[in-house]
Amino acid sequence: MLSLAILGSGKGSNAGSIFEAIERGDLNAKVVCVVSDVEDAHILERARQHGIAAEFIDHAPFKTKLDGEAERRVIDTLKSRGADFIALAGYMRIVKSGLLEAFAGRIVNIHPSLLPAFPGLASWKQALDYGAKVAGCTVHFVDAGMDTGPIIVQKAVPVLEDDTAETLHARIQMEEHVAYPEALSLVASGRTRIAGRRVHISVEE
Ligand code: GRF
Repeated sequence: MLSLAILGSGKGSNAGSIFEAIERGDLNAKVVCVVSDVEDAHILERARQHGIAAEFIDHAPFKTKLDGEAERRVIDTLKSRGADFIALAGYMRIVKSGLLEAFAGRIVNIHPSLLPAFPGLASWKQALDYGAKVAGCTVHFVDAGMDTGPIIVQKAVPVLEDDTAETLHARIQMEEHVAYPEALSLVASGRTRIAGRRVHISVEE
């Protein structure tokens, strides 16, 4: 069983989809803690509603990365809670070598685009502005790059004629809530194997 820690900065709808998949019995994992860099992030409240330990860790002085003393505190917190795997879920920070080395090959992220298209911020808006006809989401292992790690699961959605950034993001998020539990379930059941850029998925026994 995966002992999962979730890191997030926002409303936590993806974290919610993970809690619910576990509660339904669709994902063989236990969420041992949720950590946020934003004190009043709804993800913390959502975790507590599910009886999960939730902790704010101040990431100052850094604004866009997890580094230095905060990185040490996050690693210590996750280890003391018994986490062996990390899911980033709307965590608005670049993770650096300290965390990557402490949880080597055991960190995944969800990104709201069909990578490698539209890495970075507000990818749904990037897709709309670019004129893409298909958008989607990607769950991938995390490496030292920005949204560059090996891909586990992708889901596509159409971009509709009358879409706004908000309606497209909402459609992508509905797929995220399917994709993230699905990807974690593949990992939890030992069916993923990374070979270079590819994540091979073995057939269910
Ligand atoms: C999602 O769109 C995710 O892909 C991106 O940030 C958003 C987080 O949403 N990385 P939520 O906090 O899980 O609702």
